[in-house]
Amino acid sequence: MKLQFLLSILSACCLLSGLDSEEPKVIGSHDTITAAVGEDVILPCHLEPPFDVHNLTVLWKHNGAAVHTYKSRGDNLDAQDKSFKNRTLFFHGEMVNGNISLKLFNVTEQDKGVYTCVVPRLDSQVRKGNVTLEVVPKGKEEEIEDDPTSGPSTDENNLSTAHIIGITIGVIAIIVIVIVIVVKRRRGQQEENPDDTVL
Ligand SMILES: *[C@@H]1O[C@H](CO)[C@@H](O)[C@H](O)[C@H]1NC(C)=O
Ligand SMILES: *[C@@H]1O[C@H](CO)[C@@H](O)[C@H](O)[C@H]1NC(C)=O
Ligand SMILES: *[C@@H]1O[C@H](CO)[C@@H](O)[C@H](O)[C@H]1NC(C)=O
Ligand SMILES: *[C@@H]1O[C@H](CO)[C@@H](O)[C@H](O)[C@H]1NC(C)=O
Ligand SMILES: *[C@@H]1O[C@H](CO)[C@@H](O)[C@H](O)[C@H]1NC(C)=O
Repeated sequence: MKLQFLLSILSACCLLSGLDSEEPKVIGSHDTITAAVGEDVILPCHLEPPFDVHNLTVLWKHNGAAVHTYKSRGDNLDAQDKSFKNRTLFFHGEMVNGNISLKLFNVTEQDKGVYTCVVPRLDSQVRKGNVTLEVVPKGKEEEIEDDPTSGPSTDENNLSTAHIIGITIGVIAIIVIVIVIVVKRRRGQQEENPDDTVL
């Protein structure tokens, strides 16, 4: 018993240290981000597991154009495409947590498409993440909010797993309750009229 207990603790520790040494990856967004013309939007991107990148270069690109560059511990907008001038905000304080999301102000129709967040010098195989921005005409905000397929739902997978577990537990509970009720009724009937078991 004691040996088994020790072994299970040991394997749990190995598993945890394995997770710890996992190299950080750049993760964009699997879900399309939707914004209306004139709105501000945050394009999500982060490192997983969390990793401090404030000493590294971070690039945001859109169709090859430079959207925002963070370099030598500050914004470097020399190469910024003019269509994004004064319209980007990079959250410097969030970088220590590996959050390299970018805020884009006053969205235009031309902003739509795939954005790439890149940490070129990251010691990892996954240095790029993609975020797709969909731009809808002005005044369509309500439709966006009503649409369950849009919006940030990075927990989609966790949610569906939770749903499946919840539904499974619910179904099992219902089956158990039905069995208990049926068994109790049968017993009750047998006790009340023992000669009349088959109806
Ligand atoms: C970032 O650079 C500064 C100065 O070069 C250094 O003191 C600090 O430890 C570095 N931080 C990380 C997380 O590498
Ligand atoms: C950006 O903002 C600065 C200061 O507010 C302003 O002088 C400049 O004209 C703006 N550039 C563009 C392209 O809007
Ligand atoms: C990243 O920072 C932005 C701005 O503070 C915030 O809105 C967003 O939720 C953060 N994302 C993560 C994954 O922490
Ligand atoms: C947003 O952009 C449009 C042009 O795309 C411009 O006419 C408008 O003044 C901008 N609004 C703000 C608040 O900067
Ligand atoms: C991002 O998009 C590019 C091209 O559109 C693709 O080659 C790459 O595999 C994508 N990366 C991820 C992490 O989805």
